[in-house]
Amino acid sequence: MELKNSILKKRLPKHIAIIMDGNGRWAKQQGMIRAFGHENGTKSVKQTVEACAELGVENLTLYAFSTENWNRPKLEVQTLMKLLVSSLKKEIKTLQENNIKLSAIGSLGTLPKKVHNELFQVIESTKHNSRMTLTLALSYGSREEIINTVKEISIKVKNNIISAENIDESIINEHLYTQNLPDVDLLIRTSGEQRISNFLLWQIAYAELYFTSVLWPDFTKQHLYEAIIEYQKRERRFGKTSEQLS
Ligand code: FPP
Repeated sequence: MELKNSILKKRLPKHIAIIMDGNGRWAKQQGMIRAFGHENGTKSVKQTVEACAELGVENLTLYAFSTENWNRPKLEVQTLMKLLVSSLKKEIKTLQENNIKLSAIGSLGTLPKKVHNELFQVIESTKHNSRMTLTLALSYGSREEIINTVKEISIKVKNNIISAENIDESIINEHLYTQNLPDVDLLIRTSGEQRISNFLLWQIAYAELYFTSVLWPDFTKQHLYEAIIEYQKRERRFGKTSEQLS
C-alpha cells in the first residue's frame, strides 16, 4: 500500500514545524560547495509544502534562517538571501494556485531590503488564501521572540492596558510572532541532530519531536509521510493518564 494512504485524515497534525538541517553536509558528500546544498534544499521545501497542502495540514513553519546564521561566512549568507528572493519570485504562482498564504516570523527588519520587499510583496498578495499557512522563520530566534513579548507586555502593564494579575498563556500567545498560529503538534529535524536550536521554544511545549538522519536536500514527500505516520502512532496525553484519555 502507498505510504500516503496509511495517514489518518482525522488525526493530521494542525501545525508542523521543521528544522531543515544538513544542506552543508549533503553538499560536502557530493564534493560540492555548501551553496549547492542550499539550492537543492529548496527542492525539498517545494516537495514538503506541496505534500502538506495535498494532505490538508493547515500550518507549516520552516526554520529557514536563524539569528545565529548571520555569523556564517558572508558569501554563504548572501547565497541564502539570493535563494530566498529567487524562490519567492519563482513560487508565488504555485502559492496562489494552491491557495497558500505566506507568512514570516523573526526579526524581519534585519533582512536585506531586497529580501524584505519581495517577502512582503508575496505576503500581501497571498493574504486572502486559506488552504494552508506557510510561515518562514527568517532571522528568527525564539529567545529574542520571548524577550520582545515580555517587553511589549511590560509596556502595556505600565500603561494600564493589561494588569499584571491577568497575564496568562493567551496573552503571551497574542504577543509572540506566531500570534495567529496554533501550537506546534509535530516538530521535525533532519540530518540526525537532536536539538531544538532556539526554535519555537514556547510553541513546542506539547509537540511530538521527530528526528530523522535524512539530510534536508534528500527529504521527500515520502519522508514527510513517515513522520506523520509516526506522529499518529504516538499517544499525546498533555499531562493526563492513558485511562483518562480513553
Ligand atoms: C541548514 O543546513 C539549512 C539552512 C541554514 C538554510 C535552509 C535554507 C533552505 C533550505 C533554502 C531556502 C529556503 C526557502 C524557504 C526557500 P546547514 O547549512 O546547517 O547544513 P550542515 O549542518 O550540514 O552544515
